[in-house]
Amino acid sequence: MEVIIKANYDEISLEAANYVKRLVQNKPNCVLGLATGSTPLGLYKELIRMHREEGLDFSKVYTFNLDEYYGIPHSHEQSYHTFMQENLFQHINVQPERIHVPSGTAEDVKAFCQWYEDEIKRLGGIDLQILGIGRDGHIAFNEPGSSLGSRTRIKTLTQETIEDNARFFGSKDLVPRYAVTMGVGTIFEAKEIILLANGANKAETIAKAVEGPVTAQVTASILQLHPNTIFLLDEAAASKLERNDYYKWVYENKPRHT
Ligand code: PGA
Repeated sequence: MEVIIKANYDEISLEAANYVKRLVQNKPNCVLGLATGSTPLGLYKELIRMHREEGLDFSKVYTFNLDEYYGIPHSHEQSYHTFMQENLFQHINVQPERIHVPSGTAEDVKAFCQWYEDEIKRLGGIDLQILGIGRDGHIAFNEPGSSLGSRTRIKTLTQETIEDNARFFGSKDLVPRYAVTMGVGTIFEAKEIILLANGANKAETIAKAVEGPVTAQVTASILQLHPNTIFLLDEAAASKLERNDYYKWVYENKPRHT
């Protein structure tokens, strides 16, 4: 596990985009795990710029999104299908048949979730998973108490998540109560993981996830056991880490041959 602390949001977005760029260049048919929420927007803007100005080619890339609200149509303006189209997919040359976003309307949810898991495996597993983190420590919609071995399934959202997301729906009563989400166990199988966090409102959660015990109460804490995870943080999100100076020192003194 590596903790990288950058001065601000733009810098973490650029750093994450450079990781994605290197992967796409080295493995054009790589499998990217993508996230929604406000955090990855800067990363997506930078990828769009790299595609337009530098010709970064996504034509062979496969994508899997982490989650989708259950019970709203994919055409809903707040669905994660819509979010991904508007903020990334329609601006780059990713092929529609290579895009995977969980269905929020499947009648047989269990069968859909099994298919999603099988599809990830069939394509060789996720090479790089991008994550945000909820204030309650969730990754994807794996709310506190989610099994650390969980797989793709339907989850009931917490009150806190519903309140956090009410700003997008206009009222908390309009926020769906359920989501279809990759499990903690599904995410953990990604070969590389970058968790992005910015802003002081994430500082306490980041401290728990990085330096607290590994617990299902903070599902992001499982990443402490992952051999290839980067927490990519701005100063504000890193401000409650006890070993803040050490992480910076490690980054500055990183052996460049590795
Ligand atoms: P945010 O959401 O990026 O909008 O803060 C993160 C999350 O809930 O996972």
